[in-house]
Amino acid sequence: MEKEYWPSRTSFVFAAIGSAIGLGNVWRFPYICFKYGGGAFLIPFLVALFTAGIPLMILEMGIGHKMGASAPMAFAGTGRRKEWLGWMAVGVGFIIVTYYGVIMSWCVNYLGFSFNLSWGTDAQSFFHNEFLNRTTNFKDIFSISPKILLGLAISWTLIILCIWKGAKTVGKVVYFTVPLPWICLVIFVIRGVSLPGAEAGIAYYLTPNFEALKDSAVWLAAYTQVFFSLSIGFGVMIAYASFLPKRSDIVNNAFIISLANCGTSFLGGFAVFGALGYYANQTGVDVKEVLGSSQAVGFGLAFIAYPSIISTLGKAAVFFGVIFFIMLLTLAIDSAFSLVEAVAAAFMDKYNAKRLKVNFSVAIVGCILALTFTTRAGYYWVDIVDHFMNSFGLAIVGLLECLVIGYFYGTRILRDYVNSKSEFAIGRWWDVMIMFVTPAVLGISVALEIKDRIFSSYEGYPRWAEFTAGWAIVIALPIIAFLLMRSKGRRTV
Ligand code: PFF
Repeated sequence: MEKEYWPSRTSFVFAAIGSAIGLGNVWRFPYICFKYGGGAFLIPFLVALFTAGIPLMILEMGIGHKMGASAPMAFAGTGRRKEWLGWMAVGVGFIIVTYYGVIMSWCVNYLGFSFNLSWGTDAQSFFHNEFLNRTTNFKDIFSISPKILLGLAISWTLIILCIWKGAKTVGKVVYFTVPLPWICLVIFVIRGVSLPGAEAGIAYYLTPNFEALKDSAVWLAAYTQVFFSLSIGFGVMIAYASFLPKRSDIVNNAFIISLANCGTSFLGGFAVFGALGYYANQTGVDVKEVLGSSQAVGFGLAFIAYPSIISTLGKAAVFFGVIFFIMLLTLAIDSAFSLVEAVAAAFMDKYNAKRLKVNFSVAIVGCILALTFTTRAGYYWVDIVDHFMNSFGLAIVGLLECLVIGYFYGTRILRDYVNSKSEFAIGRWWDVMIMFVTPAVLGISVALEIKDRIFSSYEGYPRWAEFTAGWAIVIALPIIAFLLMRSKGRRTV
């Protein structure tokens, strides 16, 4: 099989930034930030970025580049039986892309809604009652919404088209899908912060709450949001770095990608929290409670806040609405296809599989698994899968990556390698983060999260639902990863 390469360094950086910047920045970040107390969340988030985000970005790009292979084969190159970890990462990514596609489908639908501002004056009620038609019955899993299903099909078709020829197509598509959303986001931030009452929302967003730092759940949420947002722990950055020519910088690229990504999240927060302040101002309710309890708002935050901003734009509302949801889609698409690419690269490396075959299989299986998410109860199912895949899947993969490199392969070997390739070098601090700091924070917070889940179910949801969409997947993934490792195919790079 011919080895793939990026057409240029810029296309790699754009593709990696494109993967990192996605719905995680403008949809997931604001809602997680809101859920864990606004300003209370920002300090752990920044700590997580510097202690885990950037070091793991360097680690993933380093081994991807050094081994020149996707996650399973790259880890196979670090030692016996380590291939398993690569499959685990790819598995977590695959589960995530199943619901990521559904959130993209919401964006497709909202693109349609923006032509006549269908959400009217009450974006919150429209989202929950009219669009999702939410039920509280978890068993309502046959009530598939045709609109959401259609949006899902459109999203997956776009994804497949973008990666038709791998790095070559991706390298071109990202010149469009990366800069456009940024311009758009800046316009929204300016509008969001200039709305009447926006200051209260922004104050909630920026005021630190040192009490919250004692809560391990906030720390776990911050670390996993950083992983989700940087596309770390899914094998994406490993696969992308493996397409780089041998003489390429790593450290500088890792910093650029990580900072650009987290800067975007921070910026997006101003638009959403500005809108919350505006809402509070209109209704005379406190910012924290303006949309009801954080559980009631949950995932919907972006789909309530942004439409509300759009509605305030007078004659330009339709224009900006349409542009905005196109922007969300362009943000999402390069993230989604990076996940599919990571899965495809893994199967191509191990089994010499054909790219199109893998892409189509991922799309079809991904859509089938997503069906439950398109129903009236889908909202809750997405919530559980998202929580478990992040709190356990991502956190555990991140933790194991640190342990494998820190204690089996050797941080020194990898550090020397990346330094030999990079415009500026990393020092021993990197080893300290990988060997001690990140594993300690992740290990402790995952253990405490397990304890919490033993005593109470996530968000008080029924135990059987939590088990099916949460624990069952968390248990199945390592077993499937083990079977893939043992199956016939290449064993080393
Ligand atoms: N980083 C993307 C985002 O923030 O939206 C989400 C994502 C893309 C997660 C690709 C994982 C991934 F492999």
